[in-house]
Amino acid sequence: MVKTEDNGKRFGLVGKNISYSFSKGYFTSKFKDLGLVDHSYENFDLQDISAFTTLIENNRLSGLNVTIPYKEDVMAYLDEIDPQAAAIGAVNTIKFTKNGLKGYNTDAYGFEQSLRPHLKQYHKKALILGTGGASKAIAYVLDGLGIDFCFVSRKPLRFQMHYDEITATVLNSYTLIVNCSPVGTFPDIDAKPNIPYVHLNPQHLLFDLIYNPEKTAFLQEAEKKGAGYANGLPMLQFQAEKAWEIWNNR
Ligand SMILES: NC(=O)c1ccc[n+]([C@@H]2O[C@H](COP(=O)([O-])OP(=O)(O)OC[C@H]3O[C@@H](n4cnc5c(N)ncnc54)[C@H](OP(=O)(O)O)[C@@H]3O)[C@@H](O)[C@H]2O)c1
Repeated sequence: MVKTEDNGKRFGLVGKNISYSFSKGYFTSKFKDLGLVDHSYENFDLQDISAFTTLIENNRLSGLNVTIPYKEDVMAYLDEIDPQAAAIGAVNTIKFTKNGLKGYNTDAYGFEQSLRPHLKQYHKKALILGTGGASKAIAYVLDGLGIDFCFVSRKPLRFQMHYDEITATVLNSYTLIVNCSPVGTFPDIDAKPNIPYVHLNPQHLLFDLIYNPEKTAFLQEAEKKGAGYANGLPMLQFQAEKAWEIWNNR
């Protein structure tokens, strides 16, 4: 039986080792700005997704975000999945409804909103670096935008590429490169995905899902070559705003 809140509203983030969480700071500050003194946002650090049921039973919650590594595993615990989240195969937002828990994916919305202003008509093909949870939402959006894409992996499956296969010719046609790997995240800020940056030109657009540091070593390479670049902060803000809209309106 799902408990819902009567007066004040409690929200939170489910993940593992999430003390760094962007969402807690974002929503705490948002509630303050909106004068929502009875609203709160907290981190629920679960060592295993099996603890999710107890979390739901023991807390009166109004909405949850979900992060690494549970965006896929949490789906088994929900009563309903929004069709877009089902198509992506990952949930990062949960709404508590009278009928139970409903899962949504707002990463796709966040990525699309933050990518669109940077897109040019010549961005027809994209490399997606990394094949983890986030890469699924990115592939879903690129598909919707009619941008052909190829996953790049350290252990490529069929129809995927290895980093060693990224040549000058490949980079000549794949002008959008989205880093969906954690490589370059603080504190490992000198690290960058293993691609031949020497072949970048001003038509390239490098998008990094990482937001800390603000300008990763990957994005610095784009800057050096006069290419376009964008980090993951606007995406994070857009996905959070979409989650807020879902919790309140739908
Ligand atoms: N800005 C946002 O709103 C937002 C939203 C979601 C996620 N993110 C960020 O996006 C990144 C990926 O998230 P995720 O949930 O997809 O993570 P994940 O499930 O851990 O997957 C990351 C993928 O990156 C590749 N990878 C991992 N370690 C690597 C290494 N040392 N060298 C090269 N490749 C490596 C792996 O693919 P292969 O094994 O195939 O190489 C892995 O599947 C994280 O940094 C996360 O913080 C940002």
